[in-house]
Amino acid sequence: MVLEKGLRERLKRLTRPFHREVETAFYPARLLSGALTAPQYRDYLQTLHSVHVAWENSWASFSEWSLLGIPRIEQRFRASHAREDLSILGASPLVTSVAWSPSTFAHAIGSAYVLEGSTLGGAILGKKIPQIFEGKPEAACVNYFAGRGESAVPLWAEFCGLLDRVDQERPDLVPSIISGACMAFLSMEKELDVDKTGSISM
Ligand code: HEM
Repeated sequence: MVLEKGLRERLKRLTRPFHREVETAFYPARLLSGALTAPQYRDYLQTLHSVHVAWENSWASFSEWSLLGIPRIEQRFRASHAREDLSILGASPLVTSVAWSPSTFAHAIGSAYVLEGSTLGGAILGKKIPQIFEGKPEAACVNYFAGRGESAVPLWAEFCGLLDRVDQERPDLVPSIISGACMAFLSMEKELDVDKTGSISM
C-alpha cells in the first residue's frame, strides 16, 4: 500500500510551479538580481504591506488557530515589519485593496503557508538589500525580509507542526487549504508582477 503523503509535502509539491512563477515576478526577480531601484523597493514594500494587512486581518478573525497548536497567530504578522522599513524611508504605509483575501479558515491556513514559507526565501533576499543599496537609507530596511532572524527556521517548523495536526485532526480542511495556497500564490504573483510604470501585468 502506498501511504498518502502529508499535507506539508503535498503543498510543497503542488505549489512548486506557482513558486517558480512568483520567484520570477518583477519585484522579487529584480531584488534577487540586484537590479531593483530605490523607488521600486519602496513600492515593493508598500505592496507587501497591503497584502499582509488584508490577509493578517483575515487570519485574526479565526479563533481555531490555537486548537491546531498556534496559540498566538498575531506573533507571525509582518505588516508591522514592512511599516518599520517604510518609516526608515519616510514613506507612508499605503493600504491599497488586494485582489484576493482568504475568507475561510482553510484559505487562511493556505495563505499563511504561503507567507510563512516566504520567510525562507526572504532570508536570501534580505542579504541582498544591504549589498544593492550600500550607503543609502534602503540598506537598513531589512525588517521585512530578514526581521525574523534566527527564529525563522523554528517558527517555520512550528507552522509545519500545524499542518501535521490538520492531517490528524481536520482532514476535512485539506482540499480547501491546498486551493487556498494556490489562490494565495497566484494573487501574490499578480501583486508583485508589475512593470516599470507600476501597472500590474496580467
Ligand atoms: C526570488 C524570490 C524567492 C526565492 C529566491 C525563494 C527561495 C526559497 C527557498 C530557498 C525556499 C526553501 C526551500 C526548501 O528549503 O526546500 C523557499 C521556500 C518557500 N517559499 Fe520562496 N523564494 C522566493 C520568493 C517567494 C515568494 C514571493 C513566496 C510567496 C509569497 C515564496 C513562498 C515560499 C514558500 C511557501 C516556501 C515553502 C515551501 C515548502 O518547503 O513547503 N517564496 N523559497
